[in-house]
Amino acid sequence: MYILAIESSCDETAAAVSKDGREILSNVIATQIAEHRLYGGVVPEIASRRHTENINAVVKEAMEKSGLSLSDIDAIAVTYAPGLIGALLVGTSFAKGLSMATGKPLIPVHHIAGHIASNYIAHKDLKPPYLCLVASGGHSHIVEILDYTKFRVVGRTRDDAAGECFDKVGRVIGFPYPAGKFIDDAAKNGDANFYKLPKPVVNGSVYDFSFSGLKTAVINMAHNAEQKGETLHRDNMAASFQKTVAEILTEKTILAAKDLGYKTIALAGGVSANSGVRQKLSEECEKNGFSLYMPPLSLCGDNAAMIACQGYYDFLAGKRADESLNAIATLSLENI
Ligand code: KG4
Ligand code: ZN
Repeated sequence: MYILAIESSCDETAAAVSKDGREILSNVIATQIAEHRLYGGVVPEIASRRHTENINAVVKEAMEKSGLSLSDIDAIAVTYAPGLIGALLVGTSFAKGLSMATGKPLIPVHHIAGHIASNYIAHKDLKPPYLCLVASGGHSHIVEILDYTKFRVVGRTRDDAAGECFDKVGRVIGFPYPAGKFIDDAAKNGDANFYKLPKPVVNGSVYDFSFSGLKTAVINMAHNAEQKGETLHRDNMAASFQKTVAEILTEKTILAAKDLGYKTIALAGGVSANSGVRQKLSEECEKNGFSLYMPPLSLCGDNAAMIACQGYYDFLAGKRADESLNAIATLSLENI
């Protein structure tokens, strides 16, 4: 079964074609990062406009690279939630139009379910049930993957997402947007024990995250240093901050896995590209005898291959949309 998928939830216009879910025939991404970087973050209005300009060419290229024609495609999958509403609307409108014009079924896909599915592409043996840590620019979740289309969120962030924290801290210590990769690179040259940073205590769920206190701590240190006419040691701060985030994410995930009885763990989302997070989680999984699945770096960030893969499982589960499909900015993974 061939699925054409479209993703436009944030600042990447993407299209991909999958065969029977896990095999990717094409995966095209037009990123807008360079333009948003000028403003230090994603400007939603600009994102929508660029999606509108790019989407035709991106879908066309994904079709060409797949070696198929539209008549070979069995269904069209599209990210409809969560994300920037104007950005999502471009993808959903395009997909609805294409579905109506071709008569192909339309599959609505949740963006976070897509990130989770990125591991199915790389690891053919991975199958539910397992526990997944999803850390991206907009979300930080610990999710029980009960089945390919059935999720239970056991931990979530109370404030900033992990990626958002990387980006905000990165801005304060002088890196361009999105700062995650810059912090990752700088951390390789820094001393991770140089700065002592707080690990927040979250009342209520022991699996919930909170990153705003950590962010504020770095901002305060930067301001205090500035007032004294000093500057923070950037590489050391990058390394200390990354180590702290990696520990927070890993500790909660391992705890949840032990408590809930999971021996298989997966990592997904933009922050899954972080070398510190990958290393810390790998070490702890090995210590505890857990199997760990991580996406290749090429599938960590936003892409449509993961939407094409999840779209396949959603299709098998009977999920369909029609011309009434709307984009939704905020939607829990449990309500799809
Ligand atoms: O999943 P994603 O591409 O978009 C959302 O769905 O949000 O995640 C983007 C986030 C950004 O905050 C970016 O800084 C972060 O992923 N990121 C990283 C790395 N690469 C991307 N964070 C830490 N280390 C990285 N190597
Ligand atoms: Zn994403």
